[in-house]
Amino acid sequence: MSRENMQTFFRLSMFGLVLFWFGTTVVSCTDIQVVTVATHANDGLRRYMKSAQKYGFDVKVLGFGQKWDGGDMEKGIGGGHKINLMKEGIEEFAGREDLLLMFTDSYDVVFTNTDEELMKKFKKFDARVVFSAEGFCWPRHEYAARYPEVKAQESRFLNSGGFIGYAKDIVEIVNHKVIGNQDDDQLYYTEIFLDKTLREKWNIKLDTKSEIFQNLHGVLGGREIRPSGNVDLKFVGSRSYLYNSKTGTTPIVIHGNGPIKVEFNRIANYLGDGWTQSMGCQSCGQDFIILRDVKPDDFPTVLIALMIEQPTPFLNEFLGHIRDQIYPKQKIDLFVHNKVKLHDKTVSDFLENVKDEYHSINHLRADDQVTEVQARNWALEECAKRKCQYFFNVDSTSQLRHHGGLHILIETNRTVLAPMLTRPYKLWSNWWGNLNKNGFYARSDDYMDIVQNTKMGLWNVPFITGTYLVHGSLVPSLLGAYTHPDLDPDMAFCKVIREKETFMFVSNMFMYGHQTDPDNYETTHKHNDLFEIFNNPWDWELKYINENYSISLDPNYTLPEPCPDVFWFPIVTDDFCDQLISEMENHGGWSGGRNSHKDDRLATGYENVPTVDIHMNQIGFERHWLHFLKIYVSKLQQRAYEGYFHDPPHAIMNFVVRYRPEEQPFLRPHHDSSTFTINVALNTPNVDFEGGGCRFIRYNCSVQSTKKGWMLMHPGRLTHYHEGLHTTKGTRYIMVSFIDP
Ligand SMILES: *[C@@H]1O[C@H](CO)[C@@H](O)[C@H](O)[C@H]1NC(C)=O
Ligand SMILES: *[C@@H]1O[C@H](CO)[C@@H](O)[C@H](O)[C@H]1NC(C)=O
Ligand SMILES: *[C@@H]1O[C@H](CO)[C@@H](O)[C@H](O)[C@H]1NC(C)=O
Ligand SMILES: *[C@@H]1O[C@H](CO)[C@@H](O)[C@H](O)[C@H]1NC(C)=O
Repeated sequence: MSRENMQTFFRLSMFGLVLFWFGTTVVSCTDIQVVTVATHANDGLRRYMKSAQKYGFDVKVLGFGQKWDGGDMEKGIGGGHKINLMKEGIEEFAGREDLLLMFTDSYDVVFTNTDEELMKKFKKFDARVVFSAEGFCWPRHEYAARYPEVKAQESRFLNSGGFIGYAKDIVEIVNHKVIGNQDDDQLYYTEIFLDKTLREKWNIKLDTKSEIFQNLHGVLGGREIRPSGNVDLKFVGSRSYLYNSKTGTTPIVIHGNGPIKVEFNRIANYLGDGWTQSMGCQSCGQDFIILRDVKPDDFPTVLIALMIEQPTPFLNEFLGHIRDQIYPKQKIDLFVHNKVKLHDKTVSDFLENVKDEYHSINHLRADDQVTEVQARNWALEECAKRKCQYFFNVDSTSQLRHHGGLHILIETNRTVLAPMLTRPYKLWSNWWGNLNKNGFYARSDDYMDIVQNTKMGLWNVPFITGTYLVHGSLVPSLLGAYTHPDLDPDMAFCKVIREKETFMFVSNMFMYGHQTDPDNYETTHKHNDLFEIFNNPWDWELKYINENYSISLDPNYTLPEPCPDVFWFPIVTDDFCDQLISEMENHGGWSGGRNSHKDDRLATGYENVPTVDIHMNQIGFERHWLHFLKIYVSKLQQRAYEGYFHDPPHAIMNFVVRYRPEEQPFLRPHHDSSTFTINVALNTPNVDFEGGGCRFIRYNCSVQSTKKGWMLMHPGRLTHYHEGLHTTKGTRYIMVSFIDP
């Protein structure tokens, strides 16, 4: 063996020795066995077991699969069943001096530190048994005076949701007396504790400072919820923990007892390093299913419920994003409820186009007169009937722009999971962080951080709406869940899920898309979306602003200049052009053009160089158009004519002009009453018309190869005397604004 190898060998064996020594210490020291009672599995139990596993606790679950006989613990006394299950379940540990038994509840408990830390803390008590404590004396208030005094900042009364002690003593305690399943377990332990002889016999102490156990009822803090609370989350680097500021302790076993389930679920998102400042969410990727290598035929079946319950802007886009989800369509059953007559054609056309691609389509139309609640319940029933593996509800306000969205949601593997969808530029979202006493919206401390993606992860929340994926195994138990005498269907639905102790998660691990705002949607136009620039500016921009718009804003980009001081920009989409023309033709009130200088639409009643046109205000688009000038055009103007800028741009003459050989084919040379003029081509030369264009006389320069959706910008007066060239065939449309007259 070479010298180097020797050294390595030596180091390795030293390492082994240390491990060996360390190992034996642990073995010779006392062990901790955790026991809990859980008759059925739910997300609460899974959360508990995960945290136990993370911190090295060995858990024995008692009563699993048995019928719970201990009463409704939420509503009042009970829980004797727990003690009776313990009597039997911990018998095997009887008499063991080397073993610590720790009992905890499970559905509302998480561990936040290791068994070694817990051991250290327990030893400091110098007790045989330690019970958790809280500030409420329950179930017998009158026992309060019999409790030993404690300092003001400590908790005085016994809580039976957590205790730890030597196995020998715990076994003796649970076997001390007979108790009925329906009797109260807390009362049982309380009476033992308050009996001085017994207390001393087993050397029982209460964890009044929350060294080990923290019962949260009445003490949980939070900026917005309970500013008076003294227990709150703390973060240090990659660690998260709960800190009791009154006693200065960092308890290990956290118990969300009492009516704070929702808040407990919230803080449990963070506990056990679930989310930390430096690492973000480390547990979010756990349990992922990978679909990448799954053959299309083997994908899980999904029933997608498309719910169109109100007139909805950008419905075509909504449907397009559903169609574009990357998922084998043969594995998808579509259930569509369109309650809105206005959308009948859009929806029918869409379904007609895709009907052969999906496994099945179920279409309820406006004329079917099905209510929202009925339709939603039917969708669930349909899913159950088909034994669907997933139920994916998508309300029409959800724009699932991430086309891998459904795929990722399934891979995330949570029983109920909503992709976070917010309204752009707003704090409105499809989930609530907390509930008030009446079960309605309350903001949580972390709502803003999550909505704004400062914190990203998977969040257990009390309410989700709009778009959510439900695992098929849960669906049969949700039938009828949307029905409730007082609550909205989505609130009723979430209430049922909460009562099943199933967690609802919202995910902002990915950008799934956003929500449109259907309020104030004007449905009186031919193309209603065109008028949504105020209500849904983000969607409007996506649909109507040319994808190359922002190229012109780059200071290094040389603007096309077809004639001196005449600039050219891509600005709107084909959709915009087509719909604006269509709105104008639908309105039909074209002015007389060259045959009439009289124009009642103008303050002067006289137009000097009349065209065949319709003004924006005639179709109710003036306000929208001025906003468009302010948001989109003025930025381009600053690029074209540096140093000139009026905010907002002023414009009274905004109109669409129609040139036709048989109507008005050209416009004689003129100045515009503007500082600068914009002129957007709404259709295509040599396709929709022949001839046409604009000639700047001073420069003898014409722009004829105009491009649909592109805008010309030129000075209005003095230098840019111009004319509209002959349109020789077809119809040419342009959109014109005289800016800053
Ligand atoms: C999905 O998550 C559950 C726990 O919630 C886990 O038991 C299961 O194994 C996961 N499925 C896969 C395929 O990983
Ligand atoms: C935007 O520019 C790219 C690259 O020049 C081009 O391929 C694309 O067609 C343009 N889009 C539109 C709508 O003109
Ligand atoms: C413009 O070009 C210059 C020189 O090439 C470069 O340093 C600068 O970053 C560019 N600016 C932008 C906005 O691209
Ligand atoms: C203007 O330009 C056209 C062709 O570009 C040319 O035929 C014509 O002679 C020019 N007119 C004047 C006045 O320069």
